[in-house]
Amino acid sequence: MTDIKAEDEYLFHHSVNVCVLALVTGIHLGYSKADLLTLGMGALLHDIGKVKIPKAILNKKGCHTEQEFEIIKRHPIYGKQLLYDEPYCTIAYAHHERYSGEGYPLGLKGNEIHPFA
Ligand SMILES: [Fe+2]
Repeated sequence: MTDIKAEDEYLFHHSVNVCVLALVTGIHLGYSKADLLTLGMGALLHDIGKVKIPKAILNKKGCHTEQEFEIIKRHPIYGKQLLYDEPYCTIAYAHHERYSGEGYPLGLKGNEIHPFA
């Protein structure tokens, strides 16, 4: 989190907000305290791969080009590389997957996606 905060103040706040929303969701789903701890930690770190994306692209005002968006879409892969412990690397890797299969990086569908992601 120190690395995230040093790299990007917005990303730090986004990560904390995602953590709060994930924990509220996890509490609603009846997760155990151990699972909530894992979920919360994964949520805090889900976007850590963005520290590898050039700031000029990440913080660009306005719309990204298709090429820039392809670079941004690598952040789940970088996150997996940075967080080599399970399930944190899987959470980071799969957090842009969508239930419909329209997400990235793998286009996983439904229950193929880790529930914490
Ligand atoms: Fe992300």
